[in-house]
Amino acid sequence: MNKLILALLFISSLFFQTDEKVQRAVELSRKISDQLVDSVKAVLFQELGKGGYTGAIKACSNLAQDIIKAHKEKYGVYVRRVSEKYRNKLDKPDDYELKILRKLDELNKRGELPQEYYEVVEENGEKFLRYFKPLIVQPMCLNCHGSDEFLKKEIKEFLKEKYPDDKATGYQAGDFRGAVSVKIKLSEEK
Ligand code: HEC
Repeated sequence: MNKLILALLFISSLFFQTDEKVQRAVELSRKISDQLVDSVKAVLFQELGKGGYTGAIKACSNLAQDIIKAHKEKYGVYVRRVSEKYRNKLDKPDDYELKILRKLDELNKRGELPQEYYEVVEENGEKFLRYFKPLIVQPMCLNCHGSDEFLKKEIKEFLKEKYPDDKATGYQAGDFRGAVSVKIKLSEEK
């Protein structure tokens, strides 16, 4: 009997440990993705203040990937922005990310989009937390991601030159735009 209780206690403590690890990884993912969104937004608004949308798009175009890289290095984890209709090829989702992006898009269409989405996945015997922070199109985003009538001539010219295969226009306010994607190895989390 005692043995059974001990065994049960042992098993539940294992569960508890994994749970705690997952929780810590979720909290870290939340922090990283919030910081990433805030940093990109800060650059965007700073540049908008200086020279309007044409100046801002040039700055965002140069700085977005640097900001992402800085977060990746600071925290030593996989983090990036992903979108099914990506502007920069570096933001093209992998198969797993694409599956989740489509699911989130569906949820958004039904008005059921959560603030965050995560799950534990196994890859080659290793457990990872995969975390997503959804990004929604707001009216101001249309200046650079909207349909033709929202895009100024200079913006269109810039996009054509810098991103000839741009897929990230034609959006409407309220659309699901993509997500910040974070991946953390759970066994590394002690
Ligand atoms: C001033 C123009 C501008 C505005 C306004 C703007 N973006 Fe972007 N956005 C860009 C550029 C340029 C890129 C490509 C950056 C790069 O090369 O990494 C981009 C990329 C993105 C990406 C990464 C995925 C991809 O397509 O490569 C997301 C997500 C995104 N924007 C969401 C938004 C949202 C949400 C808003 C509104 C809150 C917004 N953007 C407003 C210019 C803009």
